Amino acid sequence: MRIGIIGAMDEEIHYMRQALDIYGESVHAKGKYYEGTYGTKEVVLCKSGVGKVNAAITTQVLIDRFKVTHILFTGVAGALHPELEIGDIVISTSALQHDMDASALGPHFPQGTIPMFDYESDFTACPSLVELAEQAAAKIPDIHVRKGRILSGDQFIASRETVEKYFQQFDGACIEMEGSAVAQTAFLNDVPFVVIRSISDKANGEATVNFTEFTKLAAERSSSIVEEMLKTI
Ligand code: ADE
Repeated sequence: MRIGIIGAMDEEIHYMRQALDIYGESVHAKGKYYEGTYGTKEVVLCKSGVGKVNAAITTQVLIDRFKVTHILFTGVAGALHPELEIGDIVISTSALQHDMDASALGPHFPQGTIPMFDYESDFTACPSLVELAEQAAAKIPDIHVRKGRILSGDQFIASRETVEKYFQQFDGACIEMEGSAVAQTAFLNDVPFVVIRSISDKANGEATVNFTEFTKLAAERSSSIVEEMLKTI
């Protein structure tokens, strides 16, 4: 077993870097990869950079070069579900790309579905990793957890109207910029994944201010779940 852990930004991998015993660093496709252990568990940690292309490349490198058997994503997100508050946790049940939009081609291609793709575009997270994440979160005091669909796109969302639209249209719990690209890449390679996100903002008019203020707290919360998962995986 070898666990790949991805965060998009320095803040999102900072806590895992502290938690791991790192014995190797290398660069692939301009991304830095940290090989290490957590107790007896073999782990490869990396910063993907922001956005779906970076996330997909990083996931493929983890699979091809590092032969990871499981992929965990840790990071922050904007809330879509109205009951989510800053610092709350979302565990992915699935992930889709809200900005995949070929709907101009006709009703067979609704927004969020990948055209001419032989598979479901809403990528299902590994049920046992989801359960493990839930059990890990239950061990951390005062953390609110919601399971749900994660929406990803190459846009930072800062509009209440967009939040309402995407919540209605896609039934997403939260919105971010990498999870579904990790999910698609993991799916195409038959590698199980789960995305853990903590809410840094509500993707509304205050999102940019809140994101700046709460990313550190949210990133730490998400990492604490992933660290707990490593104890029992
Ligand atoms: N990640 C954290 N907050 C976000 C937002 N509002 N939109 C997209 N990605 C995010």
